[in-house]
Amino acid sequence: MSTNSPDNDKSVDLTRREALGVAAGALLMATSTSDAQAVQGPASAFTLPPLPYADNALEPVISAQTLSFHYGKHHRGYVDNLNKLVAGTAFAGQSLEQIIAATSGKADHVGTYNNAAQIWNHTFYWRSLKPAGGGEPPEALKARIVASFGSVDACRKELAAAAAGQFGSGWAWLVEDGGKLAVVKTGNADSPLTKGQKPLLTIDVWEHAYYLDYQNRRADHVSALIDKLLNWEFALDNLGKRS
Ligand SMILES: [Fe+2]
Repeated sequence: MSTNSPDNDKSVDLTRREALGVAAGALLMATSTSDAQAVQGPASAFTLPPLPYADNALEPVISAQTLSFHYGKHHRGYVDNLNKLVAGTAFAGQSLEQIIAATSGKADHVGTYNNAAQIWNHTFYWRSLKPAGGGEPPEALKARIVASFGSVDACRKELAAAAAGQFGSGWAWLVEDGGKLAVVKTGNADSPLTKGQKPLLTIDVWEHAYYLDYQNRRADHVSALIDKLLNWEFALDNLGKRS
């Protein structure tokens, strides 16, 4: 199970609170809307977090068209789906991480898990990118990368290989696992959170992330993303700098 609970991981907690500022709202909804629901219908507990940049900020690697569909249709769709799935259930009012932990591997909650994890993954993904990103990681992160991979370039290559090599839809991640940094890949909506790993950054390799811009050339998309958009500072924030 995950060790990354909001209570014991300050940096990831900050990221989660910042990116997924819905748990408090969900709790509020769960405790105060029984009358309102009778009038207005089910409460919309989860909301789509704002993008940290403009739709065209990641061009030319990710076009404004791709970003607007990816965020405005796909990410929003997961939010809408989850709200429908949890309405009136024990999951209403829980945080995304609580729902992910409770539904992971549960055959009767596949839809809830997939939508909750996809909301979390996408919010984390937007923060994993930034305009004029890429380049060299900050020194504190660089030291950890060199200790685990031998060099920053080796880390980049492993991340690119995982992203390009993930069969079908999924995600490539830089994580901290057992005190070391590692690259892992997950299929579909799956998350390192359920494996006791601390996510540091991620790359979405679902086709909707790149197909309008790169068609089937996923490896080219991943290479450009790592070189020009990767937000190493976000990874360092998640690492907690002193862990
Ligand atoms: Fe996506």
